[in-house]
Amino acid sequence: MCGIIAYIGNRKTTDVLLKGLYALEYRGYDSAGVALSDSQTTKIIRSVGRVSELEEKIKKEGNFSSMYGIAHTRWATNGEANLQNAHPHKVGQVTLVHNGIIENADILRKNLEGCGYIFQSNTDSEVAAALLDSLLRESDTLTALTKMKEELTGSYAFAIMIENDSNLYAIRKDSPLLIGVGDKEFFLASDITAIIEYTNQYFLLEPTEIAVLAKEEYKVYEEKQIITKELLTSESSGIDQQKNGYDHYMLKEIMEEPKVLKNLIDRYQDQEKQQELDLSNYQKIDIVACGSAMYAGMIGQSLIEKYADIQVNVFSASEYRYKKKFYDCNTLIMLISQSGETADTIAAMREAKKDGIETLGIVNNPDSTIARECDRIILTEAGVEIAVATTKAYILQVCVLALMSYVTATKKNLFDLRAGMDDFIKIPSLLENVLENQDEYKRIAAQLQDKESCFYIGRGIDYAICLEGSLKLKEVSYIHSEAYQAGELKHGTISLVEQDMPILCVITEKELKEKSISNLKETEARGAKGIIITTTKLDDFNNYLKIVVPTTTELTQSILVVPALQLLSYYVALNRGCDIDKPKNLAKSVTVE
Ligand code: F6R
Repeated sequence: MCGIIAYIGNRKTTDVLLKGLYALEYRGYDSAGVALSDSQTTKIIRSVGRVSELEEKIKKEGNFSSMYGIAHTRWATNGEANLQNAHPHKVGQVTLVHNGIIENADILRKNLEGCGYIFQSNTDSEVAAALLDSLLRESDTLTALTKMKEELTGSYAFAIMIENDSNLYAIRKDSPLLIGVGDKEFFLASDITAIIEYTNQYFLLEPTEIAVLAKEEYKVYEEKQIITKELLTSESSGIDQQKNGYDHYMLKEIMEEPKVLKNLIDRYQDQEKQQELDLSNYQKIDIVACGSAMYAGMIGQSLIEKYADIQVNVFSASEYRYKKKFYDCNTLIMLISQSGETADTIAAMREAKKDGIETLGIVNNPDSTIARECDRIILTEAGVEIAVATTKAYILQVCVLALMSYVTATKKNLFDLRAGMDDFIKIPSLLENVLENQDEYKRIAAQLQDKESCFYIGRGIDYAICLEGSLKLKEVSYIHSEAYQAGELKHGTISLVEQDMPILCVITEKELKEKSISNLKETEARGAKGIIITTTKLDDFNNYLKIVVPTTTELTQSILVVPALQLLSYYVALNRGCDIDKPKNLAKSVTVE
């Protein structure tokens, strides 16, 4: 999603901005731009497409000696992805880049048009620039920025330059923005990875504050008074841009799964450390997340309910924030997020905290909003994920939830401690076997690559696995795919089943095997072609294309099945020539509602 980097200091501004934009690329974007200033003149260069195209344009423009600059990668929200809508936007004396969505942009636009402003783009960001320009006509900069904050509704992080003024300004609300502090050089960034090469010292700007970055110093104002901000130190090692010989980050990150799983499982072998995972104090858990993180939550729901005997509901964060809540006195709100910056998940967390309900985050990014604000936090420590489609971070979310079920069940005397942990310890090497099976995935991918549509079906936990398998396929290969509860298909949706349509049937639960097979047969009777995903123990499927993974316990089985589906999706996308690491329309970190 949109990314911001801004710089003031003695380095070559374009170098810092471009490097920052490259570091932000993994978040997903469709256009990019920079604005450079020598404090009198502002030069704006924008391009649609990749940062490398912007870099080419900057080179062609020749040398422009700038003292500071702002830059942006845009993921279209208001207005299509074209040059006019790309950031930075300049109106009058104001040039800015913006992350977020201004909800009252239409009303403001009308008012500003009434005052003579003519807009070049369809963006809410240009409206914000015009608003600030109009406010600057009647007041000093700090007053104008304060009024701007009062007039805007919605979410925003702005990096701002003003003509004939040698400072950079920043304000934000509900969109991440941090200030990086170096030695006589300062940065604004939506993500620490954009600046970690230069400094690991940073602070976060609060919605009530205004940051002013000058060449030698920075100031933060709250109600026009200068305040002191405590510096934080990021542990981030930045983005490992190496693909280690793999063609794509997605493949590299899938192949890293055994290693990151081992690290996680080793960490939680320590019984004292395991207490972090204990849920036995809660009678009800609401898991709130988006996309794959929510599907990981659904696997967690099955396991926690079954083994730890706690009622669990799973909600998509975008729905949860607007629904009536039924909190009990012992309710836990569990937020799951790779980025820790997903806007809806953050909103749900803040609401729960406002209501005095305990929050626990399962998060990958340790510098994120959710990691900072949750009452309790479990870091998955998968390392940075560059491929837009999540793989290793998702698997670690599932593993944390499985470990939680196990630890809680043990605490409640519902489970045998020794046997359980041994099963986890075996998982990384079993997963290595699953990942070695690449020819099998390629063979099945060849059967899927020319299809327009398919279904994933399963029951119980297998349905949750199907949701993730199906999402992965559509994300990276653009084949239409739906995950369905196997028994539900015949209640309407089976009308879509056609001759030769692939139906991928996930069967890992012995008790549900025959039921799911009956449902698969119902589709085969209508011409569909079944593909089975199962375990060595349940495999007696002689006449099917199939993926068979080693049998483990129910607690850990999905950790072996989903990576096989990830690889299958990868090879389908590869054969279709898709842009696997940056699928169209997608963003890595969804920072708008
Ligand atoms: C799918 C995917 C998304 C994310 C979702 C939540 O491959 O990556 O569905 O899982 O956008 O993102 P986080 O986990 O960062 O909150």
